[in-house]
Amino acid sequence: MFLQEQLSEASAFIKNNTRHSAIQGVVVLGSGLGDFADTLSNADVIEYARIPHFPVSTVQGHAGCLVIGEIAPGFPAACMKGRFHYYEGYGIDKVVFPLRALRQLGAEFLLVTNAAGGIQPELTPGTLMLIDDHLNLMGDNPLKGTNPDFLGPRFPDMTEAYSKPLKAIASQVAESQGAALKSGVYAGLSGPVYETPAEIRMLRTLGADAVGMSTVPEVIAANHMGMSVLGISCITNQAAGLSPHKLSHQEVMETAEHTRQRFVNLLTGILNQIAAQPALSEQVRS
Ligand code: HPA
Repeated sequence: MFLQEQLSEASAFIKNNTRHSAIQGVVVLGSGLGDFADTLSNADVIEYARIPHFPVSTVQGHAGCLVIGEIAPGFPAACMKGRFHYYEGYGIDKVVFPLRALRQLGAEFLLVTNAAGGIQPELTPGTLMLIDDHLNLMGDNPLKGTNPDFLGPRFPDMTEAYSKPLKAIASQVAESQGAALKSGVYAGLSGPVYETPAEIRMLRTLGADAVGMSTVPEVIAANHMGMSVLGISCITNQAAGLSPHKLSHQEVMETAEHTRQRFVNLLTGILNQIAAQPALSEQVRS
């Protein structure tokens, strides 16, 4: 079946299983952030497994469902509670399938979150980092192959892959909350191994401030579709070789848990601010 038909089936299913029409945006909840979805009003929950053509999330700490609800009155968004990682073995086009389906329902912006290792010395565990830009080091691209012209152009511009107006909103909200928000370049690698210390030295030389195994495919697909993107990383650990101890998924999950409340407050503030400026998406891409 062609992608367009698959997306139509998936988006029709979602539409038929929620009270909300015209979703304004998509929020991708990274490690440990799933509970954020509970803050939405009038929420409808749809298990990924029920949605036609959706992949099924396998990684520990990621529930697999879509939560569609209001982030502000009359401003519905879809939260992805659990995301699909390239390292799970899906084709990279499958990783971006949910986002593409939600775009069919009107989503104009993507707020993507993740856990990442800090390379830049100031990015210590527990720091929140605004993604200023990224390096795609996944060795793959979700737009590879015949271009789905109905979604976007063959050669999308990535000069402002992360929206300047959305970054400005995030910084203002962080400041008003008295919350520290650093900024930096996120390097996306395929995983699932953590990096070697030599790879971290290489990434630092290449201009990376933080490293992770997600986000880049979604951000590319979002830009392809003309969406505005905001990305925020929770630095859960110092990258390999920068601290005396070894890396573990447990450390990542524990730091994400400790940072959760601060992260949720920031997301809530940002989304309220976005909701207050519905014309934003038009400004952003012009
Ligand atoms: N490397 C890659 N991915 C990660 C890391 C890391 O150090 N921490 C959390 N996700």
